[in-house]
Amino acid sequence: MSQQPINDEQVRQRMADYTGHAHLPPLVGLHSMSEASSRGLTVAESVARQLRLHWSLKRLHMIFVARIAAMPVYELKMAFSLHAHYCAEHVEPFANRVREMRQPPYGLEVCPDAALDAFFDEILCAPQTPALVLGLYGYAIPAVVRALERLVADTSKLFDHPTWRVCRLTLIEMQDVLEYGQQAIACLVDDAARSALAEWTALLEELLGAAGDLDGTQPKNSIEPRRMYSSVPYRYDGVPKRDERFRDPYNMGVNAEAFLFDPEIPALPKSIMLYFKRLREIDVPEMMSSILVETPGKPWEYYRDMTRQLWDEARHAMMGEIGFVSMGIDWTKIPLNFTWSLGLNTQLTPLERHGVLYAIEQGLMPKKTGKEYEWAVAVATANRLTALIQDYDWADEILHARIGRDWLVPELGGQKQALAFGDSAWSRILVDWARWREQGLTEHRNWWPEVYRDACRFWGIEPDPNLLAYSTTYENTRADLKQVAG
Ligand SMILES: [Fe+2]
Ligand SMILES: [Fe+2]
Repeated sequence: MSQQPINDEQVRQRMADYTGHAHLPPLVGLHSMSEASSRGLTVAESVARQLRLHWSLKRLHMIFVARIAAMPVYELKMAFSLHAHYCAEHVEPFANRVREMRQPPYGLEVCPDAALDAFFDEILCAPQTPALVLGLYGYAIPAVVRALERLVADTSKLFDHPTWRVCRLTLIEMQDVLEYGQQAIACLVDDAARSALAEWTALLEELLGAAGDLDGTQPKNSIEPRRMYSSVPYRYDGVPKRDERFRDPYNMGVNAEAFLFDPEIPALPKSIMLYFKRLREIDVPEMMSSILVETPGKPWEYYRDMTRQLWDEARHAMMGEIGFVSMGIDWTKIPLNFTWSLGLNTQLTPLERHGVLYAIEQGLMPKKTGKEYEWAVAVATANRLTALIQDYDWADEILHARIGRDWLVPELGGQKQALAFGDSAWSRILVDWARWREQGLTEHRNWWPEVYRDACRFWGIEPDPNLLAYSTTYENTRADLKQVAG
């Protein structure tokens, strides 16, 4: 006598009723039995989507980095530094996962879709800040988030658990980027700018459509990909630009280091110079980004490590900003020069720039003049914030020194050679204090007395006439390595 096959309804019921020992959730709580048996991508599908995410994060990383120097808005320079760091950190887990699932060739270095590359090229070439912001945060990041959300929803949490996990972790940070980006669009792209860009944003949508969206899961439109801004190939612009709050970018009228190292000067007023030195570090991401863009062909870990350091330097600048704001001091009164990033980006090769950075950072290690000294001064101010800023500024140098040792020293044949190389590159930089004044680029205005008076009001003390008279400029100091905080 033949048995009746079990019908679908009975199968569904059995699965719904299934429980583990003592009613423990089945499958470690990842899926119900019915979900686990009914959903999931094939390995080929999962890998194809990950290759697209991997490629897109790499492209996005380089767009963020490439636009740091010449895009003028300070806050966006900081945001691009963070978002480049996030992208850089998430590239590797996808590459690793693809390598776990497939034999070589993995296809990690191959553009997965020409339309996708055209999409990113357009954003890379966006001519003005509003277009760049809209392209990045209104189109590219939302497309990354969509792709991650779809992969999280579609793949099996059990069969493809490592992929699911990588996506979920990436999603947390990409959603942060999206949230910031939406605010950036609201602040920087008004209705007029948006409608002026309508034709271009339609093209961005068209290109995503031609790629079947970033992850290639949607029906592809059959439109032949066009180009607008990227019809002329992208050319990197490493000349730093700043927004209108930076009115005197050649000013080298107040020698912060001479003040800081003067044993006669008490600690408290030195906190101003520490904040100044920190905020002036805007120039480090401006400079490091140029190394990244102009040094092709390195292993991915190089770009990841250098981008991490770039972000740390952006954090140092913002620590200075916090210091000034905490005292009610309008930091835009202080000329924050870009002469260092300008000089390095326009006069040295990328390797020489890295050498200069390395030599500076080695100079930050000695006890008497380095990061420990700055920290000791900060502790002596008895201000917790100042001490905390210098505490982390010092700690970050530990990693930066290691990044230099990992990537620069082997290339130059040793520690000594790397130092000599950096030092000689820096000595060739033209820092022409007097000529800049003659040319009317700056008056080297002494901003110190005004800012010191503001600080004294905050501290509730009378300005010390001796300190008020401080007027040491950088004129007679050969622009040496100590004047820059790496
Ligand atoms: Fe720094
Ligand atoms: Fe550093």
